[in-house]
Amino acid sequence: MNVLILGSGGREHAMAWKIAQSKLLNKLFIAPGNAGTKEVGTNLEIKLTDFEAVKKAVIENNIKLVIVGPEDPLVKGVHDFFLNDEKLKNVPVIGPEKYAAQLEGSKEFAKEFMFRHNIPTAAYESFTAENIEDGYKFLETLTAPYVLKADGLAAGKGVLILEDLQEAKNELTEMLANKKFGEASSKVVIEEFLTGIELSCFVLTDGKSYVTLPSAKDYKRIGEGDKGLNTGGMGAVSPVPFLTDDLMAKIETQVIKPTINGFQKDNIPYVGFVFIGLILDKGEIKVIEYNCRMGDPETEVVIPLIESDFLELLIAAGNKELHTKTIKLKKDSACTVMLVSGGYPEAYEKGKEIHGLDAVENSIPFHAGTTIKDGKVVTNGGRVIAVTSYGDTFQNALKQSYKNVDKICFEGVNFRKDIGFDL
Ligand code: AMP
Ligand code: GLY
Repeated sequence: MNVLILGSGGREHAMAWKIAQSKLLNKLFIAPGNAGTKEVGTNLEIKLTDFEAVKKAVIENNIKLVIVGPEDPLVKGVHDFFLNDEKLKNVPVIGPEKYAAQLEGSKEFAKEFMFRHNIPTAAYESFTAENIEDGYKFLETLTAPYVLKADGLAAGKGVLILEDLQEAKNELTEMLANKKFGEASSKVVIEEFLTGIELSCFVLTDGKSYVTLPSAKDYKRIGEGDKGLNTGGMGAVSPVPFLTDDLMAKIETQVIKPTINGFQKDNIPYVGFVFIGLILDKGEIKVIEYNCRMGDPETEVVIPLIESDFLELLIAAGNKELHTKTIKLKKDSACTVMLVSGGYPEAYEKGKEIHGLDAVENSIPFHAGTTIKDGKVVTNGGRVIAVTSYGDTFQNALKQSYKNVDKICFEGVNFRKDIGFDL
């Protein structure tokens, strides 16, 4: 079977790396891909949201399965585009349709879904410019810190956590009246603040059945000790060491099953990944967010722990036959450390030659933001390489990654030296 992966990050390289090992694969294409995906498949120069170009590539290359990496094309309706096209409608797409992608694309949609299906989450109210006064009043009923979330996609920047009531009111004005995040903040969800430790669970579902992938914890802040600006993710560990079987059973009962059952009750067709961001406080679990895709860099630790043929699972999901499959996982831990460009997550330069990739031993350097220029691998994004390793413990996996991190260099390279510090 010929397969197309949409995306260009470490997540897509990790998926491509795994799918390339499948006996069921004939040819693998990645659009647009990066210097790493080029090693395991064929890159196609396509803009992710140019659905006509995707269509052309699918027909020309006889693609029989499409896997969508990032949320943007899903929220913009790539799956619907396939279903509505005579030539594409029988090509399964892994990634939900536009309506269901609102689970990530609209915070209010996600909150309403959780409340409708009794899935534990923070209390909330949502506001628009029309009832901004009610928003100020609602803030007065809460205690600090105040959590303000832009309803729509805001490139990971739409959540503000503020200590001061006046500051929270000012930010609400900025978001609703002054469109701080454009259309994304034309509605704002104000939430109860939750304390605890965060972790993520992932399922692959065909809308009725599901398989649970390994859990993971990522490190979003740029600085050691979880300080500084938010990034896409500076590293990850899988499985989450403090996630006991009992706790996992609780997540399954209180969150995963009601989520999948909720899709059925609401008549929401859902084929793809559900990424569930959770917070754990004194044994109680609450959902912070849903994403309609896999996480990045979580995928770079979750996928390597899958023993089963990943493509076989994806095909089954696409054919709505996931109930016929089980997933086999490795017993190891995996961790990844992200090498990023100097300056990231603020302004940074691209095009720096990356040295030392060939010297990497017993780790997998997943490419995130890389490309080939004049025959050389160069940086092409904020997050550049995710160095993933296995270990019998997460500590040993981390040690192995850090050994190899030291061998890779490019001008301005930065990484966190303390991934897993809190575990
Ligand atoms: P989200 O985009 O909804 O995942 O929010 C981004 C980050 O903000 C989360 O990973 C949490 O660290 C934090 N956060 C979101 N909602 C809450 C909340 N209700 N209480 C505390 N922290 C939160
Ligand atoms: N690493 C967080 C995300 O993919 O959203």
